[in-house]
Amino acid sequence: MENQDTPVPVPIPEDQPKAAEQVIDPWNVSGAVGEDGKIKPIDYVKLVEQFGTKLIDDALLERFERVTGQKPHRFLRRQIAFSHRDLEVILDKYEKKEPFFIYTGRGPSSTSMHIGHIVPFELTRYLSDVFQAPLVIMLTDDEKYLIGKNDLDVEEYEQFARENAKDIIACGFDIDRTFIFSDYGYMGGDLYRNITRISKRITRATADSCFGFTSSTNIGKVHFAAIQAATSFGSSFPEIFGTNKAQTAKIPCLIPCAIDQDPYFRLTRDVASQLNYSKPSLIHARFLDALQGPGSKMSASIDSSSIKLTDTPKQILKKITTYAFSGGKETLEEHREKGGNPDIDVPYNYLKFFLEDDDELAQIYTDYKKGTMLTSEIKKKCADVVSTFVTDFQGRRAKITDEMLDEFMKPRALKVHGQLSNTIL
Ligand code: TYM
Ligand code: TRP
Repeated sequence: MENQDTPVPVPIPEDQPKAAEQVIDPWNVSGAVGEDGKIKPIDYVKLVEQFGTKLIDDALLERFERVTGQKPHRFLRRQIAFSHRDLEVILDKYEKKEPFFIYTGRGPSSTSMHIGHIVPFELTRYLSDVFQAPLVIMLTDDEKYLIGKNDLDVEEYEQFARENAKDIIACGFDIDRTFIFSDYGYMGGDLYRNITRISKRITRATADSCFGFTSSTNIGKVHFAAIQAATSFGSSFPEIFGTNKAQTAKIPCLIPCAIDQDPYFRLTRDVASQLNYSKPSLIHARFLDALQGPGSKMSASIDSSSIKLTDTPKQILKKITTYAFSGGKETLEEHREKGGNPDIDVPYNYLKFFLEDDDELAQIYTDYKKGTMLTSEIKKKCADVVSTFVTDFQGRRAKITDEMLDEFMKPRALKVHGQLSNTIL
């Protein structure tokens, strides 16, 4: 992985923890702070060691391609989806034509999502198309209410969940195979039964060490860990998988997410063993950098850090031109002579996420490094590619009606391989 230790001259945002070590958990993402007081890019290899996950290597990608007969998504080809837990288990199931499902989620903290949130959802869309497996998408409106540092009430988060669900549908999910739910709307029944089975088996000490909770953390946030965990089990969804608990608890699940969500699922996997349920497999994505640089993730709460899915091409160009951290040289002469550093360059990074053509991307890398491509040029190219993505997205989003949303959110059997999901076990 490239240039992990290159310090980046980014000011530390006010609400980021000021730590010497990097901090990555579901609520904070910050690179290590160097001796010069600057944030360094996130060291993803170190994270894999710390979290105890595995890098997705060439052998695994080759197997993925062989088993599925599909070209790996650009996120997989470029190590954006870079880490996993037990992805082999899912490939084994697929090879044997045995059922499994896919699970991902979103915490609806506001009406507008940003282009970083698209990463795990685009990965999920791809995987659900490749595997043709049932998909469950959880909207944690309760979580965002519990952690919210404002005076918004519950109903406002429920509304955010509906708005965000339309954004998610616009990523291209198949209504036959996808169930979207919000915690406030759906929780109860077998999902709640599993939540309590899980929360009974997690001590305060375990939760504190996994999430950094303290005695002043509200108890809702502590208990929420069990809610995010319980969705990993097929037995939480009788409408989808039927009511034979001995079998549904054993249906494996694959969770695509960015790596900040891993702590929830580390706990889930421990508890799954105790309950004799199937342990979820995971596939982890890197973060799309904040505009300010590779030591923090794009965040919806800091406007100048993010490109929103509602931004216009003009706004996108302006944000990238004004705020995007550049790996280019100070002056034109110096840039032409010595070349830029694409590895820490935010516009290059966004191209890596959003430009489909591998050859064109490689050419940009080479030209920028040589100095034949200028910072203004790479910024323009980046703005064009991101704008095209966002404009296409907005076109799809405009067509999502409340009726479609209600249909996606109706608890029901899904259709997979021409069969109803409650008859596949
Ligand atoms: P949330 O809403 O914070 O984030 C939704 C998903 O987007 C990922 N993500 C990013 N990925 C790339 N670049 C970024 N800058 C970036 N920012 C966020 C997150 O890792 C996540 O995959 N508690 C969760 C909701 C949830 C969930 C899940 C997520 C419930 N169950 C299962 C993943 C899988 C949350 O608040 O996500
Ligand atoms: N088990 C069912 C069958 O034999 C359907 C199935 C095959 C399936 N592979 C799957 C269901 C993957 C979900 C996911 O046809």
